[in-house]
Amino acid sequence: MRTQVVIIGGGPAGLLLSQLLHRDGIETIVLERRSRDHVLSRIRAGVLEWGTVEMLRAAGVGARMDREGFVHDGTYLAAQNRGFRIGFKAATGKPVMVYGQTEVTHDLYAARDAAGGTIIDEAEGVMPHGLDGDAPHVTYVKDGTEHRIDCDFVAGCDGYHGVSRGCIPPGVLRAFERVYPFGWLGVLSETPPVSDELIYANHERGFALCSMRNARLSRYYVQVPLEDRVEAWSDDAFWDELRRRIPGDAADRLVTGPAVEKSIAPLRSFVAEPMRWGRLFLAGDAAHIVPPTGAKGLNLAVGDVHYLHTALAAHYRDGEDAGIETYSERALSRVWKCERFSWWMTTMLHRFPEQSTFDQRMQEAEIAYLETSVAAQTAMAENYVGLPY
Ligand code: FAD
Ligand code: DHB
Repeated sequence: MRTQVVIIGGGPAGLLLSQLLHRDGIETIVLERRSRDHVLSRIRAGVLEWGTVEMLRAAGVGARMDREGFVHDGTYLAAQNRGFRIGFKAATGKPVMVYGQTEVTHDLYAARDAAGGTIIDEAEGVMPHGLDGDAPHVTYVKDGTEHRIDCDFVAGCDGYHGVSRGCIPPGVLRAFERVYPFGWLGVLSETPPVSDELIYANHERGFALCSMRNARLSRYYVQVPLEDRVEAWSDDAFWDELRRRIPGDAADRLVTGPAVEKSIAPLRSFVAEPMRWGRLFLAGDAAHIVPPTGAKGLNLAVGDVHYLHTALAAHYRDGEDAGIETYSERALSRVWKCERFSWWMTTMLHRFPEQSTFDQRMQEAEIAYLETSVAAQTAMAENYVGLPY
């Protein structure tokens, strides 16, 4: 087989890149390790930056999002069980969109199928070769048979545990990492959301977040110790803990019900440099991880896809390779700013194991500053709605 760009990974980054390149007449084959049912059942991010919304529209996959998504003009922050609002639209002119990653992935698969795109799922042992030469190829095994695809470029969109990042030689690749000493216990429940907008809460018992998917589906998180096992958390224990950490009026309003999904995710900041090596490009979680506190993971993947799509389009359309040469530098410049924002939100809102009473007061002072300073609110809002590409 031959194609122009082999895309490893059928998550949001890989599928969106495939869809955007298709609209420019550039051929791709997507290789995905898992089954489609598995990919479509993963519950992950919920908030889209406005740039992400516009990119999905430009890719021709915005119709259902525009019908079913919820535009949020602001969010609530809380400390010591008392909340206040930060208006994104008032501060920046832009809102965000609440629309689940599961739905985004669903819409992208539907669009690729409708256009006759090639997505090979359950592809095992995917391996790129010849990335530092002019004629790379990718091998994989499907149903026990080995296949080979020759191509011009390989896009590594295969997430943190993928194969692509490891193809960059150890002497070239640099990794930067912080692992946080806690996780998030998340619950999805078929109950009306407690609030019309999200609530991010600092509390001395630990962080809590109230989010949603739609008018009948809520998503909540509480910070838990890394050693906690999800089976040890009953639904009742979860609701009790959430109630303790959020503002009193929200706790009184909270409607509880059985968890339809419950899981614990670790928190990590990670960046790999460079994001291009020869004819391999990394995009999304393959290159970087953010802790989820600023809702940046999916949005950052979409930002990378923006730079990569424009670089490849200029190569094929105009024979212009400046975008390819500068891909890593341009993407990383934005990645590091989003890493900083996610680290800042995480540090301000979580309870750290060694935290002193002084540290707790510093967090409360930072949140009080945000409550009263238009400048501080604007800085937070412009990061939350998304920095420009
Ligand atoms: P992924 O979505 O990870 O997609 C990569 C794809 O590559 C996967 O489908 C994988 O199966 C495939 N793959 C991996 N290895 C191979 C291989 N060798 N060969 C072929 N295919 C391969 N972000 C938020 O903002 N808020 C959240 O609440 C949030 N929750 C999260 C919860 C979890 C459990 C995880 C893991 C992430 C969460 N994120 C969240 C982050 C967000 O979901 C990711 O940033 C986003 O999915 C990145 O998209 P991606 O396409 O780069 O990677
Ligand atoms: C959601 C997750 C986040 O990490 C976040 O910051 C906001 C919302 C969510 O899953 O809805």
